[in-house]
Amino acid sequence: MEYWHNRWDKQLTGWHREVFNDLLEKHWSNINPPKDGEVLVPLCGKSLDMIWLAKQGYKVVGLELVQQAIEIFFQENKLEYSSIKADMHTKYSSPPFTIYQGDIFDLQSGMVQADAWYDRAAMVALPNSVRQQYVKQIYNQTKPGAVGLLITFSYPEKQMEGPPFSLPDRAVMDYFSNGFEVECLEKIDLEDEKDRGLSNVTSTVFKITRN
Ligand SMILES: C[S@@+](CC[C@H](N)C(=O)[O-])C[C@H]1O[C@@H](n2cnc3c(N)ncnc32)[C@H](O)[C@@H]1O
Repeated sequence: MEYWHNRWDKQLTGWHREVFNDLLEKHWSNINPPKDGEVLVPLCGKSLDMIWLAKQGYKVVGLELVQQAIEIFFQENKLEYSSIKADMHTKYSSPPFTIYQGDIFDLQSGMVQADAWYDRAAMVALPNSVRQQYVKQIYNQTKPGAVGLLITFSYPEKQMEGPPFSLPDRAVMDYFSNGFEVECLEKIDLEDEKDRGLSNVTSTVFKITRN
């Protein structure tokens, strides 16, 4: 927790991209979520991908720990917003965006009932110890039949201390083995990421369907 607050305080947000994610643009139509449905974006930061999803006609529900991240998202995108207390979270609204500020693990089951979810730099930002709990939260905050797009990051674990923490394909299969169907859409080598001193880095795009 402290770690993420520090990162935002010091503006060390190297994961943030100033352009829409090309894998999102390429694969979103492959997961085929209902038009004008609600898309959950866990650990959303100030991601511009939320803007892209809104442009496609979806309602976007972000989950983010750090208040500053949410305020910067609205300011940088010139969006007016309001906020109210919602149980252990603060709910920020600026239609079609809703962002719950607080720990994802404190969000009451069923608070969000999304038709789809988008995970880029979310599950890989969490250590192994809480990943099963994260998958349970995705289950609890989505409707039966909801579809997810998951983009992973995978490298030999011993070569770097995360985040991002390595998320190999077989681990995705294991974490989502109960209550979900998993399908691999694309796997790519990330040559540039080897500059971090990693011998092998890949990213896999998964379509995940909640039963
Ligand atoms: C690596 S960043 C990725 C942000 C975004 N998905 C993107 O692609 O730009 C991870 C984000 O998750 C937030 N975060 C970390 N732990 C969290 C938690 N337990 N609950 C909610 N948000 C959390 C951090 O503050 C940070 O903004």
